[in-house]
Amino acid sequence: MKYLIETWGCQMNSHDSEKLEGLLLEQGHEPAAGMEDAELVLLNTCSIREKAVHKVYSELGWLREEKKKRPLLVGVAGCLAQQEQAALFKRAPHIDFVLGTMAIQQLPALVERARAGVRRVIDTGAYLDNHLFPPETARRGSSAKALVTIIEGCDHACTYCVVPTTRGPERHRPFQDVVAEVRGLVAQGYREVELLGQNVNSFQGGCSFAELLDRVAELDGLEWIRFTTSHPMNFTPALARTLARNPKVAPFLHLPVQSGSDAVLRRMRREYTVAQYLERLGYLQGGPADLCLSTDFIVGFPGETEQDFEATLALLEQVRYDQSFSFIYSPRPGTPALRLKDDLPHAEKLRRLTRLQARQTELTLASNQKMVGRALKARIETEAPLEGGHWLARTANWKNVHLMAPAGRRLPFRELVDIRVTGAGPHFLRAEAV
Ligand code: 5AD
Ligand code: SF4
Repeated sequence: MKYLIETWGCQMNSHDSEKLEGLLLEQGHEPAAGMEDAELVLLNTCSIREKAVHKVYSELGWLREEKKKRPLLVGVAGCLAQQEQAALFKRAPHIDFVLGTMAIQQLPALVERARAGVRRVIDTGAYLDNHLFPPETARRGSSAKALVTIIEGCDHACTYCVVPTTRGPERHRPFQDVVAEVRGLVAQGYREVELLGQNVNSFQGGCSFAELLDRVAELDGLEWIRFTTSHPMNFTPALARTLARNPKVAPFLHLPVQSGSDAVLRRMRREYTVAQYLERLGYLQGGPADLCLSTDFIVGFPGETEQDFEATLALLEQVRYDQSFSFIYSPRPGTPALRLKDDLPHAEKLRRLTRLQARQTELTLASNQKMVGRALKARIETEAPLEGGHWLARTANWKNVHLMAPAGRRLPFRELVDIRVTGAGPHFLRAEAV
């Protein structure tokens, strides 16, 4: 069959899609050129916020019409599948199969059954070896960096979050498997990897996360290692030291804080106070000069007062994050925060979000402007220049670069080139290849 996979959500979902695609190829299917000639559409879904779920249902609505016109198998995988399970068939009876996040390797069996005419095929079992997926099966796209799972699941219990339900408890890959996979990727030409997990720094696959970074960094030919994502309570001095000392660990840290108010953090069950969070950031002192810090914020959490929100703004001012992602609290099914009274008008939540984001844009612009005039290295992330004539590249500290090169000069995809930064906006740096 000709397949099409649509992906929403985080890096873990993107990488799961690479695994799902590999399984379909091994089963003899082939990629469709577009929706028109797809015979199997697989939606790899996200359910972190209501908006993500809406997008999936709206796509499903569209597919229902497509199915009236021609034979088409529709499968739903990912976090919404794990969360809703068989209830999805009630909501969208034209779904042929549902595949949970911990049952990825069951995809070929599900496709086979659905193809044979079995209706409402489902596997949302908790296969506790899901993270031991055979690395050679994953089919990576043409990205500059390779995504590598090191840990799946989450043992924290933030009151707003679906992830402990949709991704299950923590399961760690043996470090030898991770190192072997990255060695193979380097042999294929990758120079950069991103180690993935819902909470990478609680890794315990035979060594600590800091030790894993050092072990992966020993591989010749590998240039940068990134990782995402981290819970502040598992951020250790050892990890901060590795960030500071190991030149292959890219100087970028995403450490979600969520709120600057202790009262809100307590209701979120984040397990830290603002002071404890700042103490952990303090481990980074003396670290790399170019280190960029990133975070996530939730605004309008139930009971968030104006003072609570001001405390979040104050924290933003104190840390001066280089970038942040912020969201209005979205009530999620099955989460403990549903029981909290949430009576703040939406317009007020939106006002807070807009204020936070406007200030972050200024801080990001200032952070980018500091790079102007610098000579540094960036990795080429496109195989050809874009329409504007520039190439896309990325600095070690995760800044987007619009890179100009003299006409006719081809820049090497996936490799590092020397650049000089000539300008900065809030979303990217402008630079020229030297
Ligand atoms: N509502 C809004 N934002 C959420 N996030 C997680 N759950 C919710 C929710 N229910 C945000 C957090 C997290 C990021 C991945 O998504 O900020 O760090
Ligand atoms: Fe979305 Fe979270 Fe699932 Fe990733 S783990 S797909 S962000 S719900």
